[in-house]
Amino acid sequence: MGNVDRDFALISPNISLVDVPLPRRAKLGILASGSGSNYGAIAAAIEAGELNADIPVLICNKPRAKVLERAAKFGTKTQLLNHREFDSREALDEAILACFREHGVEWVIMAGWMRIVTDVLLKGYENRILNIHPSILPSFKGIRAIEQALAAQVKVTGCSVHFASLEVDSGEIVMQAAVPIAPNDTAETLHARIQAQEHRIFPTAIALAIRDSEQ
Ligand code: GRF
Repeated sequence: MGNVDRDFALISPNISLVDVPLPRRAKLGILASGSGSNYGAIAAAIEAGELNADIPVLICNKPRAKVLERAAKFGTKTQLLNHREFDSREALDEAILACFREHGVEWVIMAGWMRIVTDVLLKGYENRILNIHPSILPSFKGIRAIEQALAAQVKVTGCSVHFASLEVDSGEIVMQAAVPIAPNDTAETLHARIQAQEHRIFPTAIALAIRDSEQ
């Protein structure tokens, strides 16, 4: 890529955690299905004293997901709710809602949650559910967003933190990072660079959404 910095990313709004201090410790309930690197970035920001929050519980739907090991390292309590053991999406969301309420969760953070949320959760936490998606929304919604961007031969993609809504990857956008695509990028190399930006914007976007909701 010549002189172009492969790690360049444009973030908007151009702020970081120090710009959005929270006056009160927010209680975050995490939903995660995978490796949990985004959860890790949020937990690290809390541990560093940069994000004024607690994670009373993390819910995972996959018994062998790596996020469970990460949660153990940070000392976050976990609850396994295997979607296969529920008759419907609504029944799973009822169980999620009950668990989060029991733990006093105020905000729901979907950090790589690979399930479609229903009205049950959306109504239970109205305007208090955030999701991260690996594209500049509204482009490349749904699964395999990175492969979609490569197939479309766009030159820039990235990630978005947005409010969850009934329509997948469609709620109000809180923060985005734009990541240039290199000519030799594969889904893996591009995903790694997008994830670096996800880890940067997610904790800040959480603080921003909480602050804005309380103003
Ligand atoms: C992220 O790339 C996120 O955008 C997508 O799922 C991935 C989760 O990664 N929704 P991790 O489990 O946080 O490492």
